[in-house]
Amino acid sequence: MKIDVLTIFPEFFKEVFDFGIIRRARLAEIVEIKIYDIRSFTTDKHRKTDDKPFGGGDGMVMKCEPIFSAVEKIVGTCERENYPSGTRVVLLSPQGRVFKQSVAREFADEANHIVLICGRYEGVDERVNDALVTDEISIGDYVLSGGEPATIVLTDAIVRLLPNALGSETSAVNDSFTENLLDYPHYTQPREFRGMEVPEVLLSGNHAEIEKWRKEKAFEKTLNYRPDLLDKENS
Ligand code: ADE
Repeated sequence: MKIDVLTIFPEFFKEVFDFGIIRRARLAEIVEIKIYDIRSFTTDKHRKTDDKPFGGGDGMVMKCEPIFSAVEKIVGTCERENYPSGTRVVLLSPQGRVFKQSVAREFADEANHIVLICGRYEGVDERVNDALVTDEISIGDYVLSGGEPATIVLTDAIVRLLPNALGSETSAVNDSFTENLLDYPHYTQPREFRGMEVPEVLLSGNHAEIEKWRKEKAFEKTLNYRPDLLDKENS
């Protein structure tokens, strides 16, 4: 899997992919992540990446030319119809489809090259969406000052699902949301801490009982905190 990030703040990503599972996946060449400075694709004297909106209004709009040039260089074409198969060009924005575990799974299974465009300011010239973008994605119903944090979220959630990225293949299978449930509670040593004890069943060695308890707890947590997940329509 190749992941290419287009941003006006390349420094933002300096160390963020250098830890844990993502770092290991990079070292094992399961994923290659590259960061591109949109400004380096400008051709004007002032290296402008944004300009005033046509029609007036507040804020600045990200210009389309440097983004088209970047995609053309990175993908080989800036015509969406001609992208190689498995290529996804993603615009991170609050207007997009909401990112969920099922979307992470879809990308991990279907994509081999993901280009993530970090939007900024008031927005991005719509022609980027019209011609380049295969997926507009939001990480939730709130407004960030740019798509950079969202890029980190997508990259992390997708990379850990790639084959062999996790130490044990079963880890992702048991993740929260995989079956539309939150995770069950976990405990480790010590058995008792400040008067708080580990549930007896987990010490029993009875695997069937433990499994049953975990299922019940996962259901209970989901019902209490995220009943919307139990509604099949939301899966
Ligand atoms: N850019 C600004 N807000 C965003 C959001 N919620 N998700 C993705 N990108 C964004």
